[in-house]
Amino acid sequence: MFAFRPGVFLIALVPAVLWPGCSRKADQPVAFNHKLHIYNGVACTVCHVGAETGLRAGLPGVETCRRCHEDLLYESDEEAKIRLAVELDRDLDWIPLTRLAPFVLFSHNRHVTLGKFNCVTCHGDVASWSVPPRVPERNFHGRPGMADCIGCHQESHSRYAGSDCLFCHH
Ligand code: HEC
Ligand code: HEC
Ligand code: HEC
Ligand code: HEC
Ligand code: HEC
Repeated sequence: MFAFRPGVFLIALVPAVLWPGCSRKADQPVAFNHKLHIYNGVACTVCHVGAETGLRAGLPGVETCRRCHEDLLYESDEEAKIRLAVELDRDLDWIPLTRLAPFVLFSHNRHVTLGKFNCVTCHGDVASWSVPPRVPERNFHGRPGMADCIGCHQESHSRYAGSDCLFCHH
């Protein structure tokens, strides 16, 4: 696609090292189906345990999947990967896509529990995902961008949602 130029290569390498999600295509270890789980009434926080209480929502370890999939539930090749991982004592290494640069402060707890925002507000219609997204797929354009954060902070008129640089950057 591109002719090899060392300069371009270096520019591409820096974000690739800092933010794996922005250049690596996601090839998740299991073709996880959100739609099916949400339809079956499994709450977001069963798998994203920090979404209400922590800074990070987190991605589930194989132990979480095992709770329901130890015994055959669905009988698909994808489900079999869970039991194989348990047997081999390996985790499922999910590739995170939505990842802020380390110089930004963001807390799920403050937005979900105190701000009372739904996951959908920022992540889009997760309940319609039947295959894992390959790029961050949500109401944020591209990656979570500064303009999206500041836009909502200003609209919310909350005295706890500032727009000073140091409010989000340290
Ligand atoms: C049974 C476990 C499970 C449940 C329930 C679940 N998720 Fe997930 N979620 C996952 C797994 C596994 C991944 C990584 C693979 C993928 O993207 O499908 C993921 C990925 C995501 C991502 C993308 C993360 C990223 O790095 O960009 C978002 C956003 C997300 N989930 C939100 C939700 C929301 C909102 C709900 C509830 C409406 C929910 N999830 C319910 C297991 C779950
Ligand atoms: C105000 C916007 C906002 C809301 C509301 C929100 N998120 Fe997030 N979410 C983000 C941002 C920004 C990131 C990237 C965070 C980072 O890099 O630290 C993220 C990252 C994630 C990830 C990727 C894995 C991780 O731990 O970073 C998952 C999964 C996720 N959110 C799930 C949820 C769920 C489930 C809810 C609802 C209970 C929710 N989010 C509500 C903005 C939001
Ligand atoms: C709270 C219980 C629960 C947990 C936890 C859970 N699942 Fe499921 N899973 C279900 C149910 C219910 C079904 C649908 C079964 C049916 O329709 O017969 C399902 C179906 C599946 C299937 C088969 C459908 C398909 O798309 O091939 C796969 C694969 C799967 N889950 C993967 C996972 C993974 C990976 C995790 C951990 C991140 C996980 N599940 C965690 C309850 C759960
Ligand atoms: C949908 C609206 C909305 C979006 C999008 C949003 N915020 Fe907020 N944010 C708020 C509100 C409202 C509060 C105040 C919550 C409270 O009552 O404590 C807040 C609070 C905060 C706080 C202060 C609480 C703390 O954890 O110290 C920080 C920092 C913050 N937001 C950063 C961000 C960043 C970074 C982004 C973008 C990745 C973002 N926000 C996106 C509405 C939003
Ligand atoms: C409400 C939160 C918030 C506020 C307020 C904020 N930023 Fe940001 N800033 C972000 C987010 C989110 C990013 C994107 C990080 C990423 O790419 O992961 C960012 C990125 C940046 C970057 C990196 C380059 C870029 O554009 O991506 C710079 C420089 C920056 N901000 C400077 C500032 C300055 C200067 C101010 C004050 C005028 C400010 N920010 C206010 C959240 C905020």
